[in-house]
Amino acid sequence: MKISLAISSLLGMFLLLSMVTNAPTKQWNSEDNLYDVLFALGETKPKHYIQGTPEQIKQGEEIIKEGRTHRMGKRSRRVSKYYMCTTCHNVEQEDPDLRVSNPETRLDYVKAKGIPFLQGSTFKGIVNRETWYNDDYVKKYGAEKIGEAHEDLRNAIQLCAVECAQGRKMKDWEVESVLAYYWSLQFTLGDLNLSSEEMRELNQAMVQRGDTRKTLNWLKSKYAQKSAATFFDPPPSKHTGYEGLTGDPTRGKDIYELSCLFCHQPGGVSHYLLDDKKQSFQHLKSKIPKDTHFSLYQIIAYGTYAIPGHKPYMPHYPLERMSKQQVEDLRAYIEQQAE
Ligand code: HEC
Ligand code: HEC
Repeated sequence: MKISLAISSLLGMFLLLSMVTNAPTKQWNSEDNLYDVLFALGETKPKHYIQGTPEQIKQGEEIIKEGRTHRMGKRSRRVSKYYMCTTCHNVEQEDPDLRVSNPETRLDYVKAKGIPFLQGSTFKGIVNRETWYNDDYVKKYGAEKIGEAHEDLRNAIQLCAVECAQGRKMKDWEVESVLAYYWSLQFTLGDLNLSSEEMRELNQAMVQRGDTRKTLNWLKSKYAQKSAATFFDPPPSKHTGYEGLTGDPTRGKDIYELSCLFCHQPGGVSHYLLDDKKQSFQHLKSKIPKDTHFSLYQIIAYGTYAIPGHKPYMPHYPLERMSKQQVEDLRAYIEQQAE
């Protein structure tokens, strides 16, 4: 009697234990890749989904940061003679809040990290976006070219290699390597800044498997699915500047150093050299009110175009990459330093 009781209670314990271990016990934590969670919630794999090998990831990283890589013992040809992808794009998180693209908060954030403030959006989390070259970029490159790049990350890579970087079309294996590297930069749950309460709720929702669509949408509300781009014009009067805004030279200094100098200091991508000398500031200052691309207002809003015989050009800043307030901040700094 005693023995059978002992056996049956042991059996009961085993049963309980196995029930516990068979239950969906996967607890998501901050290191988990965001896409793994989305897939578990029923999200379909995007067109650009690949599982890159460590070698592909390394090759992709070299293409992005050094412009070329090695394959089967041979050095590959440069994608662009003029730029690295990282001339215009960071590879680290650059917005403190992934839901909004705000150049004001970005400036402080990149400054603290010691990375530049650039026209192109970061590659961190680029695989978590669902469209590329958004909004006003259609104007710049035309609906036909954008059509292919807007909804397909592979085409967006190609478009930028040829148009932005003024380079050559990449080979298929190169595009796949860049993609593999991009996948290594996808968001983790931790990047979304969820509170511990929200993490608990997420894990509960995963166990209960109720309305997974709702959980999916909730997760997607924690980051932007695209990098927005709104183009803008110089102010009607370059003397007055943008109406109602007063520049702050301290903020302007950060923009000058983290953005302009990144490309215009000696050894950068431009022949047009800038530095901290009074003459440089005086030159920039004298051009501000003029109708020329040497005017801050014009160069920031419009950039320059690549012309035959001289391929390096300067990409313009959409409002999401530099605000009108920041243009005034930069002006205030330049005018202060020119005195
Ligand atoms: C001269 C500057 C410049 C260089 C060099 C450059 N890009 Fe870009 N790229 C841009 C700008 C500007 C955009 C449009 C804004 C943005 O990033 O969303 C862009 C957009 C992109 C996008 C779409 C991003 C999105 O979410 O809309 C991809 C992908 C891309 N570039 C890949 C590359 C790759 C790969 C290279 C190197 C082979 C490269 N870029 C080199 C300036 C550049
Ligand atoms: C991503 C690199 C990059 C950044 C960032 C950048 N520029 Fe440029 N800029 C260029 C390139 C390339 C040219 C084309 C001229 C050349 O080939 O040297 C250019 C051209 C210019 C010109 C016209 C010069 C000429 O000879 O036609 C001015 C003025 C200028 N930039 C100012 C600025 C200012 C001010 C900032 C900061 C707000 C800035 N640039 C940020 C790369 C950059």
